Amino acid sequence: MLNRMLTIEIVRVTEAAAIAAARLRGRGDEKQADQVAVDAMRTALNQIEMDGKVVIGEGERDEAPMLYIGEKVGTGKGQKIDVALDPLEGTTLTAKAMPNALAVIAMAEAGSLLHSPDCYMEKVAIGGGYPEGIVDLDAPVQDNVSQLAEAKGVQVADITACVLDRPRHAEIIAGLREVGAAVRLITDGDVAGVIHTANPSETGIDIYLGTGGAPEGVLAAAALRCTGGQMQGRLVLRRPEERERAAKMGIKDPDKKFDLAEMASGDVMFAATGVTDGSMLEGVRFEPDTVTTETVVMRSATGTVRWIKNRCCVRRG
Ligand code: FBP
Repeated sequence: MLNRMLTIEIVRVTEAAAIAAARLRGRGDEKQADQVAVDAMRTALNQIEMDGKVVIGEGERDEAPMLYIGEKVGTGKGQKIDVALDPLEGTTLTAKAMPNALAVIAMAEAGSLLHSPDCYMEKVAIGGGYPEGIVDLDAPVQDNVSQLAEAKGVQVADITACVLDRPRHAEIIAGLREVGAAVRLITDGDVAGVIHTANPSETGIDIYLGTGGAPEGVLAAAALRCTGGQMQGRLVLRRPEERERAAKMGIKDPDKKFDLAEMASGDVMFAATGVTDGSMLEGVRFEPDTVTTETVVMRSATGTVRWIKNRCCVRRG
């Protein structure tokens, strides 16, 4: 089991990254916004007493100078912890001051989170309360929404699917529209897209479909482990060198469909702080003497979901 005090520690980590990134909202500089979030998240992470390792994150060592996959984080003392992170989920959203940019992290006991290269992942996700296995990555999207509608006791026309607005999803979108399902297109931010399936009566989203980042997939899986839900993910590893990299990280079958527990098992914690205002969280507010953040933090062992609004004083030099 994880030390429950970690739920507070990880909130400090996403708050720090979100505050740093929020100062660059709407400045048109995605790279800089990402960099400051990475710096802040790393500094905060390294204050936590744990022997942590980034298992999926900003990329591999050669391409990501900090918070790269394999990087040790924490003080090096204490429990061995797997860390999945995205210091700024929605770099473009932040640069354009658009909704739903988040600072996100998940932690679990060592060996519990999927250790993978920073590649794409095919994803399908629905919320909790449905019979196991009613959606499948290999099923036609039409079948997935029909099965879901039947299980929910509604018409297919009452189902809304969230999909990233990308040309690669043309077939998925056409398939959904063919059977009369609604498609909520998002420009970025599929961690929130997947999490929204956990609460369809509030978010209006019943199912998430499509290909996005693998780190975002593992982070979303960690959140769904806490809230309940079903998800499958399959890494997109087309080139031989990608498959080789994945094999070195322990992925024996590059075409494997991972279920929720294979992406995030055991006692898992997840935290996200809003950078910009969004459908899940409010963004950071700067006042003359204070900064206010909103964070959601969850833990699978207890199923607790806490919203933390934090107002801290700005130190004046
Ligand atoms: P970044 O913050 O790294 O830009 O990610 C935003 C995002 O929209 C993710 O939510 C999603 O998983 C991924 O990008 C999709 O990748 P792409 O923009 O290449 O289609």
